[in-house]
Amino acid sequence: MIISGKELSAKLKADMAAEVAAFPAKYGRVPHLAVILVGEDPGSVSYVTGKAKASAEVGIRNTTIRKPAEITEEELLGIIAELNADDEVDGILVQLPLPKHIDEDRVIAAIDRAKDVDGFHPQNVAALWQKQPCTLPCTPKGIIKLLRAAGVEIEGRNAVVVGRSNIVGLPVSKLLLDANATVTITHSRTRDLGAVTRGADILVVAIGRPKFVTADMVREGAVVIDVGVNRDPDTGRLCGDVDFAGVSERASVITPVPGGVGPMTICCLMENTIECFLRRMAH
Ligand code: GUN
Repeated sequence: MIISGKELSAKLKADMAAEVAAFPAKYGRVPHLAVILVGEDPGSVSYVTGKAKASAEVGIRNTTIRKPAEITEEELLGIIAELNADDEVDGILVQLPLPKHIDEDRVIAAIDRAKDVDGFHPQNVAALWQKQPCTLPCTPKGIIKLLRAAGVEIEGRNAVVVGRSNIVGLPVSKLLLDANATVTITHSRTRDLGAVTRGADILVVAIGRPKFVTADMVREGAVVIDVGVNRDPDTGRLCGDVDFAGVSERASVITPVPGGVGPMTICCLMENTIECFLRRMAH
């Protein structure tokens, strides 16, 4: 079975659009998401465009601020301070990665925690690991929604996560753990990775290397979630971290690239923006 994140996210976005349509009468305005893009990395430009498009579909106001890669850290922090102070901004997202001369951690920490729609602020990260209410990072949240929608049982299963990034690997591991999976986190230094991944009932791959996971690394009947977005070096087309052609023969459930995790990430960003808006309206 191929799980379509595209279909599930379309349904969820339609539900959110209906919810948001009632906001002007109730609250006097719609949620407002501010996205900051620094530089012109093609991947980042395409993500930011996707976020603006989804915002329009859901009825969320979107302001995308584009700045040249040469922007100083102080200037960027100044923009964030303005957005923090702006009562009509509910969510702030700084597209990552940032140019090397900018301290990413400092920028993330500068965002008002209540407007941190990415769930990357240190206080949100701490809250996640302490099982306190928090904004969940979009990609991990989207992955759990996909698994639930596909009817995949998580409790008691062996989940193996390939990759340990702050954006995906670590938080998705925590969400799987909270769902009572037995979780193994693997990375570039893991010895005999194939032996570990072959033990996975649920395999989440977020390593950022095209077609890195091959059929021999996957147990027959496993559930495979491919978070990768890469260019296939052979064809130049978009491809995941999983060799779909081979692995889909062995997996019971698999996500495609594109059309799998990617749309769910954006969908969860919309959900997080609405959550931040509603929390602010309640205050
Ligand atoms: N770059 C890759 N994924 C993400 C994400 O989820 N949020 C932000 N802000 N940048 C990213």
